Amino acid sequence: MLNTALIGCGRISHKHIEAFAKNAARMHLVAVCDPKEDRADAKSNEYLSAMIAVRAADPAVASRAPAVYADYRRMLEEIHPDIVTVATESGYHPRIAIDCLNAGAHVICEKPLALSIKDADAMIAAAKANGRKLALCFQNRFNAPVQRAREALEAGRFGKMLHGMIQVRWNRNEGYYSQAPWRGTWALDGGTLMNQCTHGIDLLQWMMGEDAVRVQAATRRYMRPIEAEDFGAAIIEFASGAVGIVEGTADVYPTNLNETLSLFGTKGTVVIGGLATNKIETWRFADAAEVGDTEDRVLNPSDKDPPSVYGYGHADLFADVLDSIETGSELLVSGEKGKKALEIILAIYKSQKTGLPVDLPCDFSTAEMEGYFA
Ligand SMILES: NC(=O)c1ccc[n+]([C@@H]2O[C@H](COP(=O)([O-])OP(=O)(O)OC[C@H]3O[C@@H](n4cnc5c(N)ncnc54)[C@H](O)[C@@H]3O)[C@@H](O)[C@H]2O)c1
Repeated sequence: MLNTALIGCGRISHKHIEAFAKNAARMHLVAVCDPKEDRADAKSNEYLSAMIAVRAADPAVASRAPAVYADYRRMLEEIHPDIVTVATESGYHPRIAIDCLNAGAHVICEKPLALSIKDADAMIAAAKANGRKLALCFQNRFNAPVQRAREALEAGRFGKMLHGMIQVRWNRNEGYYSQAPWRGTWALDGGTLMNQCTHGIDLLQWMMGEDAVRVQAATRRYMRPIEAEDFGAAIIEFASGAVGIVEGTADVYPTNLNETLSLFGTKGTVVIGGLATNKIETWRFADAAEVGDTEDRVLNPSDKDPPSVYGYGHADLFADVLDSIETGSELLVSGEKGKKALEIILAIYKSQKTGLPVDLPCDFSTAEMEGYFA
């Protein structure tokens, strides 16, 4: 049973509570931290409520109210958690994650890892120096259709991958940005590519070979009252010769439309759509009859979108980290793997700023975009 603490009790933290409860046989939430103590109090209560159902099914599972802290450094000194999940504003991830790693905790960090390559590298180095795990919340990798496509990819069923596309056509209105003033700032967030599209860009590069070498982009701040972009388009070239296309927007009228990953190989075509890459829309493989997964068998018209675009993946991602701690297995989304999407997005920003294609690896940061759309 590993003692766990949550740092940051805002909008996404309920997915962490849900994931702690689903993994309650292996991890126990012992502390919650937020300088806004009412939020931390509310999380402590939310955890206890979630544990009622868990204990009804298995009374042997312990559940005490997690201690409430305003200061995470004090929490680290007093509690010495085995695992910390970091769900604060993105710009704070590096400092907090490094402090937790140096205090001897494994870290599960919300996306994006950081807002600069320098900070991401420092986090990865701190995990290595302390012999701790650093995992990133790219929970959509655990979506059942995405896992199924990845299995097909690993079995070589796509043939040679030619091109792929991620479309994130969502609506984040003024209310969303005014809820938390850090959103859309260069110092703490970045724009829609860094915040909303980072999952899809991660999926795209994961399926296309994880070897992006060049990026060309156009980003815009069309209509939202933020510092960073609310729209971005990019072409990503991979070392294999494959090409990835990104279309990401927070401006879709009037509500979220779709998040769709399309993959085109010489022997396979897969489209995973719905609101957040959770629904198989096309499934065609040259060996489908042999394997027994022809499209008519795979498509399920009654498939529903999850209740929120965050999906169901956090619990599986936390379980993957627990497996890795217990058995030494490789993390599905380690800091190194999570850094790849960050590098692509920062290269997109640099391409917009310079008007030129950008070769990877590229050392850039959102801070270098400060004032760009002013
Ligand atoms: N995985 C996903 O799908 C997903 C979805 C939404 C948000 N996120 C990410 O989660 C993070 C948080 O986003 P949010 O929308 O929940 O933000 P939010 O503003 O709702 O909450 C952030 C919380 O962190 C707290 N905080 C700030 N500094 C702290 C500190 N030193 N110690 C403890 N708490 C501190 C703030 O007071 C606030 O309550 C961001 O990095 C965001 O990109 C991930």
